[in-house]
Amino acid sequence: MSGASLVVDGLRVEFPTPGGVVRAVDGVSFALAPGERLGLVGESGSGKSTTVLALLRMIRPPGRIAAGTVRLGDRDLLALDARAMRAARFAEISLVPQGAMNALNPVLRVRDQIADVMRAHGIDDSDAAIDARIGALLESVGLAREVARLHPHQLSGGMKQRVCIAMSVALQPSVVLADEPTSALDVVVQKQVLATLATVQQRIGASIILVGHDMGLMAQFVHRLGVMYAGRLVELGPVREIFARPRHPYTRALIASLPSLARRGEFRGIPGIAPSLLAPPPGCAFHPRCAQAVERCRRDAPVDRAAGDGHRAACHLVAEDGLAPAD
Ligand SMILES: Nc1ncnc2c1ncn2[C@@H]1O[C@H](COP(=O)(O)OP(=O)(O)OP(=O)(O)O)[C@@H](O)[C@H]1O
Ligand SMILES: [Mg+2]
Repeated sequence: MSGASLVVDGLRVEFPTPGGVVRAVDGVSFALAPGERLGLVGESGSGKSTTVLALLRMIRPPGRIAAGTVRLGDRDLLALDARAMRAARFAEISLVPQGAMNALNPVLRVRDQIADVMRAHGIDDSDAAIDARIGALLESVGLAREVARLHPHQLSGGMKQRVCIAMSVALQPSVVLADEPTSALDVVVQKQVLATLATVQQRIGASIILVGHDMGLMAQFVHRLGVMYAGRLVELGPVREIFARPRHPYTRALIASLPSLARRGEFRGIPGIAPSLLAPPPGCAFHPRCAQAVERCRRDAPVDRAAGDGHRAACHLVAEDGLAPAD
């Protein structure tokens, strides 16, 4: 069912730990139009993977989705029974997992891994017809048909990543979630793999959430960018807007910390330490690291404020008229 929109509202994920309950995703809301590509960035531990896994209902117990809705088309995925949710994975919403190097089954040929997904979703074509589909699928992600006969250990990192992309689009889902699909690859291969992902996504009309660290690289592939901090989506907007007029001080720090375009690479971090999710700072979780923090930031948690067309930020310093003060 290509072409459905995804609407996430008030998503909250909690992990009980010996020290107390960790709120890894805290009130995340956004919508994704059919065919749209959204990037999610933020420091390690900010809740990007947890958000993506929650959309698929793949949070391992005792972790749990404590609140929210995830509407895909006219259904709330969080309200489906387990069987309906299994059927929806791959067919309606799929994942290219973090660390694809380990995601493939080492003892199965590529052909059998993809065929298993098809068979599990009720495709009862003949073996020859399945082989033909898999061959075409592999070609669509830039691999030779013969790759179907190989085992994962016979593939390079980039090839494995392409096989994972092929599996994620095999049933033409409406939404593809790609969690750092290229972070283990060298820069040239990263770009090629992301270009392939974008091509296939357009061909099947799916929307994409792309999780990553390299804001500069991501910016070349997404329409909108979301910035996560301590489990919250603190800024969201069209990618050009975010780079031209970042509103949240954390987003500004992220952009300022990017290496120059000529030496683009991993994001190097910003001063200060990420907050403990067990005992997050009161008010705005970013205030201890924020040079612009005022009294209110230490007291009240900011809510989303409009910061221009389709652009919003959760910061007290974004004025009601959409213009940030002290620019
Ligand atoms: N199984 C778990 N048990 C307890 N806490 C967890 C668990 N999984 C995740 N968390 C908490 O959720 C937070 C968010 O983790 P998550 O993996 O979503 O971050 P991320 O943004 O994807 O980071 P990275 O960039 O390193 O992949 C972590 O800081 C951690 O405290
Ligand atoms: Mg992650």
